[in-house]
Amino acid sequence: MTEESFPSEAVLPDAEATEALGARIAVLMRPGDLVLLEGPLGAGKTTLVRGLVTALGGDAGEVCSPTYVLLESYAVRSGGIATVHHADLYRLRGRPTAPWDEVGLGDVIEDPTAVTAVEWPESWEWLGGQGARVLRVRLDYRDDARTAAVGWETDDGA
Ligand SMILES: Nc1ncnc2c1ncn2[C@@H]1O[C@H](COP(=O)(O)OP(=O)(O)OP(=O)(O)O)[C@@H](O)[C@H]1O
Ligand SMILES: [Mg+2]
Repeated sequence: MTEESFPSEAVLPDAEATEALGARIAVLMRPGDLVLLEGPLGAGKTTLVRGLVTALGGDAGEVCSPTYVLLESYAVRSGGIATVHHADLYRLRGRPTAPWDEVGLGDVIEDPTAVTAVEWPESWEWLGGQGARVLRVRLDYRDDARTAAVGWETDDGA
């Protein structure tokens, strides 16, 4: 990602803007990629995933916060991407060890035909070390709007 091709910081005045950012991120995605979505409660993480899934050919209506099941998977169709896995680790934050099997993330992260989006990844340090390309998105509140900072964590995303 270069500054010319994608702004690393954006102001998101409404939910549609957050979805549109998800759609712009969809263009960057390749099978196996990981998207880490950071930011406070209600900042727009799930909304961004909805935009991502829609842009990849999935059903926006299916995308909700997987707070109770921790992990949802949506069928999409875009290039070699057949699935978007969507995890919400809010209830697991602060846990000293990552309960991979409990969540099912260990399997999906190795799915070569999927993109995986993870809300509340902060305590999951291993997420950067799985060999996948990792895009980090930080959503925040600023005055009446929201902001987003987007950047590749891995070198090969440019
Ligand atoms: N840029 C924006 N401006 C105003 N409202 C927004 C924006 N983006 C999303 N919203 C709205 O904020 C609310 C919360 O969004 P969302 O559920 O996506 O947040 P979240 O970060 O996933 O929350 P959680 O931390 O609980 O998982 C929704 O009503 C959504 O429509
Ligand atoms: Mg959410």
